[in-house]
Amino acid sequence: MDKILIIDFGSQVTQLIGRRLREIGVFCEITPFDKIPPTDGYRGIILSGSPCSVRDEGAPKPDLSKIKGRIPLLGICYGAQYLAHSFGGLVEASRTREYGRATLSGRPCSLFKGIGEKTQVWMSHGDTISRLPEGAEIIGSTEDVENAAFRFPGEETWAVQFHPEVYHTTEGTKILENFAKGICGCKGDWTPASFIETAVTELKETIGDGKVILGLSGGVDSTVAAVLLNKAVGHNLTCIFVNNGLLRKNEFRDVLSSYKSMGLNVTGADAEEDFLRALKGITDPEEKRKTIGRVFVETFDKYANRIDNARFLAQGTIYPDVIESAGIPGIASKIKSHHNVGGLPEGMNLMVVEPLRMLFKDEVRRVGRALGIPEAMISRHPFPGPGLGIRVVGEITREKLDILREADDIFINALRAHGLYDKVWQAGAILLPVRSVGVMGDERTYESCVALRAVTSTDAMTADWADLPHDFLAGVSNEIIRKVRGVNRVVYDISSKPPATIEWE
Ligand code: XMP
Repeated sequence: MDKILIIDFGSQVTQLIGRRLREIGVFCEITPFDKIPPTDGYRGIILSGSPCSVRDEGAPKPDLSKIKGRIPLLGICYGAQYLAHSFGGLVEASRTREYGRATLSGRPCSLFKGIGEKTQVWMSHGDTISRLPEGAEIIGSTEDVENAAFRFPGEETWAVQFHPEVYHTTEGTKILENFAKGICGCKGDWTPASFIETAVTELKETIGDGKVILGLSGGVDSTVAAVLLNKAVGHNLTCIFVNNGLLRKNEFRDVLSSYKSMGLNVTGADAEEDFLRALKGITDPEEKRKTIGRVFVETFDKYANRIDNARFLAQGTIYPDVIESAGIPGIASKIKSHHNVGGLPEGMNLMVVEPLRMLFKDEVRRVGRALGIPEAMISRHPFPGPGLGIRVVGEITREKLDILREADDIFINALRAHGLYDKVWQAGAILLPVRSVGVMGDERTYESCVALRAVTSTDAMTADWADLPHDFLAGVSNEIIRKVRGVNRVVYDISSKPPATIEWE
């Protein structure tokens, strides 16, 4: 298969390069700059941006001499500056930080084929290329940046100081397409259907007639992994869906029945009591997470041990969890490390299979649709592994969970009824450990407070609070206070991430 290699210098938006390429059907892999694999199998290489300056001592500086000129190369931002710097150009601190929208005037060339004479691009760098390497030729400038794009004639080495991968570069995808398809010659035949075909063949080869166990969570990733495996190995796959007592209203029952109707061989493991017992008295969020993780593994282990001769453990790991972040000293690495909870139960001696490990989230959804998984399942909001356990702030009890389940159910149903569910990335209710005074009829009340949270996002790394209509929020608040006993106040969370997080704990 045609593929492009993306060398990551630590930019926040490196993954977007990958996503844009995959969107146009070009397969690609992302590698940290200090672990570049042999490049023979790739049709082209992209050098990403970076928070570093090429003038810094510790900046990423892999040897490009064996790559440049032998394989098509596109440098983006830092990648462009590093190309200039490595081959005799001059990179200096820019007098003004070049940040934000700019208008590029591109010269006719294969990288800018079909692009407007003037086109909007997004700049984000503190350095600038003040002199090009000898022989290099300018192919585009903006008002402030003369060497905004250049190439080395006689070879397929290209460089742009702007970011074609971000949405604000209006014709950015076309530029990446010109590189990947036009210059590198990739056919663009990476589609959900082709993925399914290859994955099923590979799974059959790896698994043979062995038995596979998979933990279903109700989320998109594990569901798609299960259906894919089911297609490959049928009833040699056993899925386990654990009720940790922290699921939403009726979720255990409903999700289990939709899995069954999708033809999956699924066992429901009802361990509500075990979880609630273990969580008694715990208030610290991290301790809650650890406890939930531990009891999950124990439960999973117990049910998995009932399956004779199981040899494989399948997981719904996806590409963003697999990509190693480029290890640049001083740059904060993964914020999400705590999310990859779970893992292989100790002593189970199983081989791990991860059929989705090369897919981005939007691709998992497209593969899911191509596999015929019902849309309601595909477009479900993300829901954290520790579930309502981290939405009951403070100690968890069954009573509190029941109150929260009712309030959450009203909120989510209202979002669906008003056509707002698919407009937000994630939504839910949070039960606060606060009681406040109210009046109901002639009586004074002293009851709990529920916070509603809804955010828009593309990857949960950053998120904005969703600006839901006021009359909608008023309606939800009314219904919760009227119907949910124990709640007399509803508030709406208007914090974005960062600095807040999506979950309260
Ligand atoms: P935060 O709260 O970090 O959440 O902004 C980002 C996304 O991750 C989910 N989340 C979790 N998922 N285990 C999970 O499986 C966890 O411990 C966990 N904590 C947060 C959260 O719901 C949001 O989608």
